Amino acid sequence: MIDIKYNYSLRSHNTFGIDVRAKKFIEYGTTKELVQLIKEGEIESPFLHIGSGSNLLFIRDFEGTILHSKIDSIEITHQDSESVYLRVGSGIDWDKFVAYTVDQNWYGLENLSLIPGEVGASAVQNIGAYGVEVKDFIQKVETVDLSGDQRIFAKDECNYAYRYSIFKEPENKNKVVTHVHYKLSKIEELNLGYGSIQAALARYGEISLKNVRKAIIQIREEKLPDPRIIGNAGSFFMNPIVDRAHFEQIKERYPNMPFYELSTDQVKIPAGWMIDVCGWKGKSLGNAGVHKNQALVLVNRGEATGQEIINLAHAIQKSVFDEFKINIHPEVNFIK
Ligand code: EPU
Repeated sequence: MIDIKYNYSLRSHNTFGIDVRAKKFIEYGTTKELVQLIKEGEIESPFLHIGSGSNLLFIRDFEGTILHSKIDSIEITHQDSESVYLRVGSGIDWDKFVAYTVDQNWYGLENLSLIPGEVGASAVQNIGAYGVEVKDFIQKVETVDLSGDQRIFAKDECNYAYRYSIFKEPENKNKVVTHVHYKLSKIEELNLGYGSIQAALARYGEISLKNVRKAIIQIREEKLPDPRIIGNAGSFFMNPIVDRAHFEQIKERYPNMPFYELSTDQVKIPAGWMIDVCGWKGKSLGNAGVHKNQALVLVNRGEATGQEIINLAHAIQKSVFDEFKINIHPEVNFIK
């Protein structure tokens, strides 16, 4: 089903709830339809492919075509006694997909429960939470280029790293992800290393796949605002990676600083903790604010514009730099 709309409000297509319009907005339900749209010249430049808009900040009206996949198939391509291999449509809501895998007793994605977004974006963004990144379960990614070329990228070709894949590079901006292939385990493999999981699990009794999902949902609901109630895009900044000498200097001043060891020379510091130390938690600048329970999340307190959110982000970046001599960078994509 192809659906084309003109001068269309994007408010319900970005979790910040910013009210901007797209000149043209196109949804499609199959790869064939996408190829047809390309052939017929319907996709006018500039173009942007969105998922659920949970990692986007619109600054102004979009004077081109916004594309959105509604490809919603889940196929088992093969399976054996240990693993199941799935081919999943890019337009499926991420958490609906995770819920389905947990219902089937397939292990792997449970720690990524309740992350906003869709299957296609999971493979672009390499979503991660609670000690797990989706790259650990991706096998390959099917794409269609706006020239019409179709190409399948093996996982190794995607160059996955923290919140990174080659699909974020400017030269790949014309590639649309249509399907993602995942390999999940039929054998119990839980990842309970992350600090607060064990404590949250204790409330649900036995350690099981379904209870891990419940615990993760509980942790997220306690800390992160529900975008249906307060506009936000999850973590606004990425956690910066610093060299060991710099880390040691900060640690002297803040002995209780949380951190994640990456290697002998590199340490990742939670940006949320730094923003909190700078006193931003719960504060506002105009209609843009910092969430009261997690300083890494910027929120729309009402009718915020994209520019107001950016102004707040800049003020936070300056404070963090002044205090820690660290530049923090947005995880959210600004659409100008
Ligand atoms: N912290 C504070 N104050 C704050 C926020 C955090 O002191 O206001 C401290 C926490 O107490 C903890 C540490 O900082 O010791 C880390 O906080 P948290 O566990 O909440 O995780 P994070 O590093 O802030 C990352 C991801 C989240 C993911 C969590 C859990 C990024 C940019 N963010 O946040 O991802 O859910 O870990 O794994 O890597 C997202 O990408 O949208 C997202 C929510």
